[in-house]
Amino acid sequence: MTSRVVSEVEHGSPLYRECVALRLAVLRTPLGLSFTEDELQRESASLHLVCHDGQNLVGCLVLVPLADGEIKMRQVAVAPETQGRGIGRSLVDASETLARHRGFTLMTLHARTTAVPFYERLGYETVGDEFEEVTVPHRAMQKRL
Ligand SMILES: CC(C)(COP(=O)(O)OP(=O)(O)OC[C@H]1O[C@@H](n2cnc3c(N)ncnc32)[C@H](O)[C@@H]1OP(=O)(O)O)[C@@H](O)C(=O)NCCC(=O)NCCS
Repeated sequence: MTSRVVSEVEHGSPLYRECVALRLAVLRTPLGLSFTEDELQRESASLHLVCHDGQNLVGCLVLVPLADGEIKMRQVAVAPETQGRGIGRSLVDASETLARHRGFTLMTLHARTTAVPFYERLGYETVGDEFEEVTVPHRAMQKRL
């Protein structure tokens, strides 16, 4: 039996690099896209959360602190072979707890349309119309913390 743990990792660390590899595999390569070093460098002010199941990195996400109590969730990725087992929920729950502790009052995100039901299940609501980002349709969503 393995244990599932969510923790924060430092930007630029070996664990951060593992997250980037997972995000690339789950979110970018299937769209024929990649990350530039500039793009990754701009993430230095963001928070990086990972979920491990035993030794295995099974999921991660990025939180971007914004103004006026808002924090934006990005790049939510769960390893394909472990999707549908509550890992996404654990990561989002942990993000909300961390954000609340740090004084944020609103979690926002741009959800791929295919993932909207996942976020709705976790209490998020859509805001505004569908739009395109990284070549796929998205909806803005939010939740009061
Ligand atoms: C979307 C994603 C992050 C969800 O993580 P996950 O670990 O697979 O989801 P969980 O097992 O934690 O699901 C939590 C709940 O949401 C539901 N759910 C998850 N994905 C869903 C989907 N695409 N459609 C409908 N419901 C979904 C689950 O059934 C579960 O419901 P329950 O609590 O009633 O059982 C993950 O599947 C993923 O990485 N997908 C590919 C990349 C992606 O789309 N990322 C989001 C970009 S915005």
